[in-house]
Amino acid sequence: MIDLHCHLLPGIDDGPADDAAAIEQARVHVAAGIEKVVCTPHVSHGHRNTGEGIVAATQAFRETLAAAGVPLRIQAGAEVSLSRAIELDDDELLQLHLGASEWLLLEPPLGTDVPRLPQMVGGIQSRGHRVLIAHPERCSAFHHDDKLLGELVRAGAAAQVTAASLTGQFGRTVQKVALAMVEADLVHVIASDAHDVVRRVPGLAAPLAEAGLEGLTEWACHAVPAAMLAGEELPPRPAGSGRPAKRRGMFRRG
Ligand SMILES: [Fe+2]
Repeated sequence: MIDLHCHLLPGIDDGPADDAAAIEQARVHVAAGIEKVVCTPHVSHGHRNTGEGIVAATQAFRETLAAAGVPLRIQAGAEVSLSRAIELDDDELLQLHLGASEWLLLEPPLGTDVPRLPQMVGGIQSRGHRVLIAHPERCSAFHHDDKLLGELVRAGAAAQVTAASLTGQFGRTVQKVALAMVEADLVHVIASDAHDVVRRVPGLAAPLAEAGLEGLTEWACHAVPAAMLAGEELPPRPAGSGRPAKRRGMFRRG
């Protein structure tokens, strides 16, 4: 599996504080069946990481993992807050893409609704960046507007739901919204958004199985992430990869 969203680089954001913690976290990724991780440290007003700094930190940590004998492949990426993304120039945003792909992991604000969110995302897309929306299920704007994600997806965005959202780690509302987004076929990637080995841990297949969505694992945790990183068309979601739904229709495509 490929984890497209996680905080693994040591000492760069609110992920692991140092090499020892990051190595331990990387071992948990491997134990969870994850072969490749795109390291996506925060790039925001609170965490002013740069593309150049993240690339250098990724190379250094790659050498650390090799020396520690941890068989996890890592690539550089970023989780760029929407408010920071609109300030950055295109060269910088390009360096923050997931690996060498066209895709930018974009984080909408969690706690506040954003008027004109589709227009702001569209502005970034019009500059040539493909947008993967980070954990919309955790953002209140998507709780209040059940058509918002469908609007963004129709305009070319993809969506990443966090595995632990599906099992209720972020509460029942987030869980309900995450499941409804998956059931409405508006989600393309499931990622861990791991930060540590205690509270926000690496894991994809296990939480998906717990949520009754094991049929989604191969597509959302391997096929789509691999296609994104390779610059290929996203494969269609396999038929029957959802779960028997009790609450279909909360989120609509159009
Ligand atoms: Fe994150």
